Amino acid sequence: MPTATAAAITTRTDAEILEIERAELIPLYAKRDIALVRGEGSYLFDAAGRRYLDAMSNYGVASLGHAHPRFTAALTDQLNQLTTGHQSFGNDVRAELLTEIATIAPEALSRSFLSNSGAEAVEAALKFAQAFTGKRGLIAARRGYHGRTLGALSATADKKYREPFEPLPIPSTHVAWNSPEALEAAIDDGTAAIVLEPIQGEGGIHVADPAYLAAVREIATNNNLVLIVDEIQSGFRTGAPFASVAMGTVPDIVVTAKALANGFPIGLTLVTEEISASLPSGAHGSTFGGNPLAARAAVETLRIYREDGLYEHAATLGAEVVSRIEALQNPGIRDVRGRGLMIGIELKQKSTPVLRGLQERGVLALPAGSTVIRLLAPLIWERRQVDELMIALADVLS
Ligand SMILES: Cc1ncc(COP(=O)(O)O)c(C=O)c1O
Repeated sequence: MPTATAAAITTRTDAEILEIERAELIPLYAKRDIALVRGEGSYLFDAAGRRYLDAMSNYGVASLGHAHPRFTAALTDQLNQLTTGHQSFGNDVRAELLTEIATIAPEALSRSFLSNSGAEAVEAALKFAQAFTGKRGLIAARRGYHGRTLGALSATADKKYREPFEPLPIPSTHVAWNSPEALEAAIDDGTAAIVLEPIQGEGGIHVADPAYLAAVREIATNNNLVLIVDEIQSGFRTGAPFASVAMGTVPDIVVTAKALANGFPIGLTLVTEEISASLPSGAHGSTFGGNPLAARAAVETLRIYREDGLYEHAATLGAEVVSRIEALQNPGIRDVRGRGLMIGIELKQKSTPVLRGLQERGVLALPAGSTVIRLLAPLIWERRQVDELMIALADVLS
């Protein structure tokens, strides 16, 4: 009989943990100087036991906070049932997830492809658009971010990520944000798809004008292009499952990931029946995609969002955060913007020292671009957490 006792994880200090990671990992990330080892609700703890207010959900994924009892119970139950299950077999939990997805997806997006990350959801969308149109080219937005695998990177705008790998596999043009004219002018005979975020996340929290999305929808339809909307970061935290749909635009493909399963790795590419029907069997696949453990994580997360009213809560609390930051009337703040709990504070200075100051005051937030502080709080935040954020923010900006 296998033993039921797991081997303990060695106890190390923050410095020791970081030293091992610095020595052993390929140094691709600018590391912050704490190690996060535990989470509870809206708080994270480092190895020294110091508590931090989580205003970032680990890049927008842990939307139910940490160690959410109902989420933990569901995953524990699933671990005792079945964890892996290839899609060449059926699975009860995957079927349940597809039923849940059908309740949040716009009616026209009736087919799902399940994968394991945001970039994978984008890769699938790009392949599907190419297969459907028989063309290869993309139009994406300046400042847009869609991931760093080679296909997704073709859509991502930032030169810093692109240049070492050029020429990238998909011909792409990056056009001005919020300008239907610029987008229309970039269409040529090789264009297969338009790829946009409804709210640019990494690019600095820029919310699309609903009229812009509607115009893009019309341009895509008139030119037989596939409109792919990337809701990987905006999904679930802006007051609705999908910000684009809430703003009145139904794309041909929606991709999402991050908050779909409260941080459990998953990717979802939602497409129309017509696109789905154009794909030959074997056009795409994933060993881990749609596995029962990830599916259970997503099922429970989507149920909690709905049953606990977290879409509405994100909208209300997010509006309160924005108005309280505006009320600070701090001369160091250039702009505050966002939708729901996807909020950017644009500063008149670089964000790094302010983020460091927040961390020293026990608050973890993120950068977006060089001057924007990005807040992606868990949707379970209450006014108490907003109060804590405001105290730290006012202090660090004073
Ligand atoms: C809008 C958007 N698209 C795609 C991605 C890539 O997702 P992942 O990091 O899971 O590959 C991200 C990640 O930040 C994102 O914000």
